[in-house]
Amino acid sequence: MPITINNQEDIERMRIAGKLASEVLDFITPFIKPSITTEEIDSLCHDFMTNKQGTIPAPLNYAPPGHTPFPKSICTSVNNQICHGIPGEKILKKGDVVNIDITVIKDGYHGDTSRMFFVGEPSIQAKRLCEVTYQSMWLGIREVKAGAYLGDIGHAIQSYAESNSYSVVREFCGHGIGKVFHDEPQVLHYGNSGEGLKLEAGMIFTIEPMINAGKKDIKVLPDNWTVVTKDRSLSAQWEHTILVTDKSYEVLTVSKDTPKPFLD
Ligand code: MF3
Ligand code: CO
Ligand code: CO
Repeated sequence: MPITINNQEDIERMRIAGKLASEVLDFITPFIKPSITTEEIDSLCHDFMTNKQGTIPAPLNYAPPGHTPFPKSICTSVNNQICHGIPGEKILKKGDVVNIDITVIKDGYHGDTSRMFFVGEPSIQAKRLCEVTYQSMWLGIREVKAGAYLGDIGHAIQSYAESNSYSVVREFCGHGIGKVFHDEPQVLHYGNSGEGLKLEAGMIFTIEPMINAGKKDIKVLPDNWTVVTKDRSLSAQWEHTILVTDKSYEVLTVSKDTPKPFLD
């Protein structure tokens, strides 16, 4: 299957979906404090999406082949959880770090973005992991333009993460997105410059590196969804949805409180 090249109307709708996804993260930010449960975070986000925004939470009942339906509206991945954490009775406590991953559907188009949140004051190690992961996402984003290769993105992310003695999760990757939640291409967060698909203006995909403080190996919990580090080390992830343009890129998942890119 060829990779979708979005037209101006698709792009306009993806800007809207991307902004809405990011606005869910803005909305939930003040609630991320000690003693809230991940289920409460899910329920607040669910209400905001369905009642305030008129968006559909894409994760709810999402069931790719070989998976049981995802039972909640957002993913909450705490500490050693890498991704796809299912909101539940877990109470957030001071010092935890949590990734909140939001995917909304608006008028049939998907916007997908995640951020890391500190619950109270983070440890120096947790803060550093989250910052390095954020910077690695941005170094990947900055490779994007028509004529560049997917391998350029993966290489930028991997080399920065590994130069900080962290590891890159291999089993999950960024993905084409639009009318479909997880479409081609797969956007690996490791690789070699100049390899893989050549980018064209109008392609839209996510960049969402998962970086572990310890080894790269993963384990899936018996709930069939929650992915954790095998060595129980901390893991962090950030995600944006990106449009390829002729000379550069456009980040589609932006809103008032989107963290600014790190500069060199
Ligand atoms: N939002 C995740 C991603 O970035 C996917 C979550 S799928 C779910 O691709 F079913 F776990 F919600
Ligand atoms: Co994604
Ligand atoms: Co996501």
